[in-house]
Formats: sequence, structure tokens, C-alpha cells
Amino acid sequence: KNKLSFADKLLHWFDDHGRKDLPWQQDISPYRVWVSEIMLQQTQVKTVIPYFQRFMESFPTVTALANSEQDEVLKHWSGLGYYARARNMHAAAIMVRDEFNGEFPRDIENIQHLKGIGRSTGAAILSIASNLPEPILDGNVKRVLSRVFAVEGWAGKSAVLKELWTLAEQTTPKTRNADYTQAIMDLGATLCTRSKPRCDDCPMKSDCIAFADSRQAELPAKKPK
Ligand code: ADE
Repeated sequence: KNKLSFADKLLHWFDDHGRKDLPWQQDISPYRVWVSEIMLQQTQVKTVIPYFQRFMESFPTVTALANSEQDEVLKHWSGLGYYARARNMHAAAIMVRDEFNGEFPRDIENIQHLKGIGRSTGAAILSIASNLPEPILDGNVKRVLSRVFAVEGWAGKSAVLKELWTLAEQTTPKTRNADYTQAIMDLGATLCTRSKPRCDDCPMKSDCIAFADSRQAELPAKKPK
């Protein structure tokens, strides 16, 4: 299968169907993308929107966030759940203020030193905010790649995870990377869902091994019992 056409097809689909008017897609900065990515990790777009807007009004910059009380930050998280996300964000903002001169790191090595930011979230921030060609691999992307390329085995196994990262590296384009990252996340969130994927609307349908073999329900493999 041609892994280059993968990005082209996805970008075409994004141009026609992707969301481009979300609050964190306006006035893009690493700080705004970071806040949106953390909020979106376990919460749907529709729920996140008002939280994101209130958060930005109260904490417009990473320094403003660092200089706030943790309780104040937690209040803005009330109802979103997974409060460790908010505590980690506050701690990370203090790190940016004190260790990075108030400038959000712009490379994958440094960004991963921040609390709550792993390789994929760090890459998503660098990609969406700075258009850097970093591959991402969140839950949505794992599902898309597992199905299109028929990756066998549970992603909790290091060999499987390594294979998925390699596919992510091979499919991620050097140009229009920010759009690509948003596109593959949107595809996983809206069409290539865990149950009842909408394959008939999917731009990857003709390339997808899981679709060809009717294995959408089997892939990605679940944790073995
Ligand atoms: N989930 C995590 N990040 C996301 C994003 N940028 N867009 C949609 N869903 C997401």
C-alpha cells in the first residue's frame, strides 16, 4: 500500500469535511493548543468548547496560568473530570515560567519534560501550533492505523506500539502537517469510531485492510484476558 497517498486522501477529506472553526483553531498558539489538547483527551469537543473559552478568559497566557492559585485552576475544571489533568497543567505552566523563561518549548525533547505531556500530546502541540512534521499516536490514531494497515495484537504490548509508531512516522507528511494531524484525529473521532464505524463515508475505505476483510470489529485488538 502506498503510504504517501494516505496523507493526500486524508487532507482532501479534511478540506471538504474537517472542522476549521473551533475556538482553539483561532489565534493559534502553543499555549492554546496545549490547553485544548489536554481538555480533549478524555472529553468530547462539544463539552470542551465552553470550558476552553472560560479558561482562556481567566488564564490568557501560560504565565497567567502559572501565577494563579491551583484552586482557581481546579474551579475552571469543575465538571470536566480527571482533575489530575488540571493539576498537571498548573505544574507544567510553572515549569514553563521558571525553567523555559515563560516560552512554551518548541521541540519534542523539551516539550515532553512538561508534566502531563507525553510524546503524542507533545507532537500534537508542535504539529498543530507550529506545523512541525511530528507524528502523533493517540487513541484515535491507533485505531485508524490498526484498521487501515491491519496491525495485529494489543497496543499495550511494546512491539505492537512500536509498529504503530513506525506507521505513524511513515504516514505523517512533511507539508500541511497541522491539517493532517487534525484530520487524522477527526477521522478517528467521527468516522473510524470504535463501534459502528461509518466506512461508507471514509476517505481511506479503498486502502483499508480491515474494511476489505470485514475486520473492523476485531481491530484494534483488545487487551488479552
Ligand atoms: N482529541 C484530542 N485532540 C483532539 C483534536 N485536536 N481534535 C479532535 N479530537 C481530539
